[in-house]
Amino acid sequence: MDFQLKTLTVARAAAEKSDVLIVLVGSAPLASKDPLSVQVAAARKAGDLPDKAGKLLSLYRPEDVAANRVVLAAIGDGQPASVRSGVIAAVNAAKAQSPKRVVLAFAQDAAPAAVASAVTAAADASYVYTATKSKAEPRTIRQLVVGVADAVAVGAAFEQARATVEGIEFAKEWGNRPANHATPTMLAEAAKGLGKLPGIKCEVLGPKEVDKLGMGAFAAVAQGSAEPLRFIVLRYQGGPKDQAPVVLVGKGITFDTGGVSLKPAAEMDEMKFDMCGAASVLGTFRALAGIQPAINVVGLIPSCENMNDGRAIKPGDVVTSMSGQTIEILNTDAEGRLILCDALTYAKRFDPAAVIDIATLTGACVVALGGVRSGLFSSDDALAAALEAAGETSQDRCWRLPLDDEYAEGLKTNFADVANVAGRAGGAITAAKFLQRFTADFAWAHLDIAGTAWKSGAAKGSTGRPVGLLVSYLTRRAQDGAAAADSAKAKARAERKNEGKGESKAAARKARSVQ
Ligand code: BES
Ligand code: MN
Ligand code: ZN
Repeated sequence: MDFQLKTLTVARAAAEKSDVLIVLVGSAPLASKDPLSVQVAAARKAGDLPDKAGKLLSLYRPEDVAANRVVLAAIGDGQPASVRSGVIAAVNAAKAQSPKRVVLAFAQDAAPAAVASAVTAAADASYVYTATKSKAEPRTIRQLVVGVADAVAVGAAFEQARATVEGIEFAKEWGNRPANHATPTMLAEAAKGLGKLPGIKCEVLGPKEVDKLGMGAFAAVAQGSAEPLRFIVLRYQGGPKDQAPVVLVGKGITFDTGGVSLKPAAEMDEMKFDMCGAASVLGTFRALAGIQPAINVVGLIPSCENMNDGRAIKPGDVVTSMSGQTIEILNTDAEGRLILCDALTYAKRFDPAAVIDIATLTGACVVALGGVRSGLFSSDDALAAALEAAGETSQDRCWRLPLDDEYAEGLKTNFADVANVAGRAGGAITAAKFLQRFTADFAWAHLDIAGTAWKSGAAKGSTGRPVGLLVSYLTRRAQDGAAAADSAKAKARAERKNEGKGESKAAARKARSVQ
């Protein structure tokens, strides 16, 4: 879908040729006196367009409007969340007529965050999966023109949202593909494709290299599958070479049968989504290539199937992880943590500023938080706060859960350094406690996206989450880094100036320390 941003008043939007014109109407009074604005105001006054985000009123061939159909959509206070519900409702209504060109115009002033929200919501509501259908009906909307009062003021937010959408849709696409169309090898090929984009490099390791690295936990999960494992290493360099990167680690189980600790048959198909953490890392890199923020990012994806087979791991098996810690595998269905722990150990070599893993890790997290917020765990308060803030900004929210050491009690065993499962209680937290054992050397956060990465039921499909959260976190970090670098430069410049005036370095330093 091609997005365009234009400066449009309601009157100008009415004159734009399109199949459907969507007008987003906020609570503020409409100032213009053009025919469409007058009609909107009248509908509001009559109570036919209630001032509640998501409420709609459809018009057919209204006078002085180029489009045959107009959908008025209430966006209440105009906050990003309200814009999202208004746009989703309107695009869903507009979809029925298979429009090709849609104009989406804000009737009142729109903040940059509101425009970004409109872009991601419109993309979300119109996405169509086609990859494995013989007679697919793809998304009909070819072009979506976003009309705002001042395109220059919201241009940067719009461009970033457009690139984020590309990342989200990349993640959705790979998340949705069935396991036989998204094997570890195919995921690695997709990653190599990303390696052709500006600023991105990709390297893929296979079973031999992984054995050589000593990734005994990862290799153990993969050994029950006919599909060879892949370890994907992505790098995005937008900052100076010596700048410590943020490392993203994505769980890439392309299918999770549970292994010998077999899962029940009902809904097992949904375990094709068990690589959504990996897909979110791929999607984030796709977005980074479009945005080009001044930051360095590494992406690590351990990818394999978790199968039930003659060679598969058995409950009670003890394996040695890359860290040297031995692990007793009490439940072969707790495989995510086994592949992640080796990737976390591998992350250390990048001397990272922070490491964030993203995983569809536990059913317990679905029970705790449902599909609204992802579970967030972190040993670093500043990192946790930054991720929480990024979740709010992008409306891809998370909720922090605790990591008290008492939660690790159940992971004790007589036969290895640690067991891969504890009891049923606090299952999302005990999983995080297991991972934490491999993160002593850096600031670390873990996002459990088991409840948020996909939807079940009639709307079954990948959500592309948490690409929005991750892109928001990384771009914010790049901005903050750039701001810090700017102020450091300004300081150095001031210092040089002082020196030029004959003042000694020591005096300049003294002057600074007094300030
Ligand atoms: N991929 C699953 C987690 C999952 C289950 C995500 C259901 C979404 C819906 C993970 O590998 C798993 O099986 N976890 C087990 C852990 C348990 C054996 C301690 C679980 O949650 O049941
Ligand atoms: Mn499992
Ligand atoms: Zn799993």
